[in-house]
Amino acid sequence: MTTNRQPRVSIIGAGRVGSTLAQRILERDLADVVLLDLLEGWPQGVALDLTQACAIEHHSRHILGTNDYADTADSDIVVITAGKPRLPGMDRTDLIQTNAAIVTGAAKAAIAYSPNAIIIVVTNPLDVMTYLAWKATGLPSHRVMGMAGVLDAARLETFIAAELGADVRDVQTLILGNHGQQMIPIARYCTVSGIPITELLDAEAIERLLDRARNGGAEIVNLMKVGSAFYAPASSVCKMVAAILQNSPRIVGAAAYLDGEYGVRDVFLGAPCRLGRSGIVQIQEVDLSDRDRLALQSAAAAVRENIDAALKIVEL
Ligand code: LAC
Repeated sequence: MTTNRQPRVSIIGAGRVGSTLAQRILERDLADVVLLDLLEGWPQGVALDLTQACAIEHHSRHILGTNDYADTADSDIVVITAGKPRLPGMDRTDLIQTNAAIVTGAAKAAIAYSPNAIIIVVTNPLDVMTYLAWKATGLPSHRVMGMAGVLDAARLETFIAAELGADVRDVQTLILGNHGQQMIPIARYCTVSGIPITELLDAEAIERLLDRARNGGAEIVNLMKVGSAFYAPASSVCKMVAAILQNSPRIVGAAAYLDGEYGVRDVFLGAPCRLGRSGIVQIQEVDLSDRDRLALQSAAAAVRENIDAALKIVEL
């Protein structure tokens, strides 16, 4: 007898990132989706709306909206978007107090029903929340990761393409460090069709673009005022979900548990990772200048300090 089991992705938190991600996963025909939120009726309504869109979009996927973790059982991937977003003037770390318990609770509840799942954390402050999800679930570290590198890279690639009048598909970037002010884009590894941007732009222009990428999330928060970005974040998670489900060995930036890589230990921090069906298959190390290596260690120390503060709040 053959089973006809479809891949299943559960999204915890049906806010703008979660519901846009559900739409992307369905319409790219990647997996069935369970969309969970604590707000009664909301995820059910979003799911019904997306189901009706299917009459026009014609994908073959199913979505269930629910308030009950039991409905997420047997997921291949759990994406945690639950928690509060930033408001203008806030740093991502201002969200630790509010989001620590939400993410810890969500990760534990979801893994109780899907013990074999891979977790992708989206809630901010990203690097800290990913550590909490790992610690709360006790999963092997390669099965827990945070989404930020894909998003930060997409932003920088957009800015580089616009500056040079290039096609964004030709632009590739490498960003290490945390999802915040201590993000470390490495200019000599950023290329346009293989040409490092250091050959194409002067130092002042490069610094301006890197800085805009570091503040890419805040720029949108300042425009929206009552919320934060969701289209590009949802696209970024979807790219990771596709790589995992299709077991395609894509190398993307992700917040990964570092255990000596880049001289850093016991934090989740952005690094290029090869993804696959088992989660993070490999963390790719690259040669760094002394300045970038120091910047990475200082980013790790800042994240570690916030992890320690968060661990006290949730008592893990
Ligand atoms: C941003 C949020 C998702 O960077 O952190 O837009």
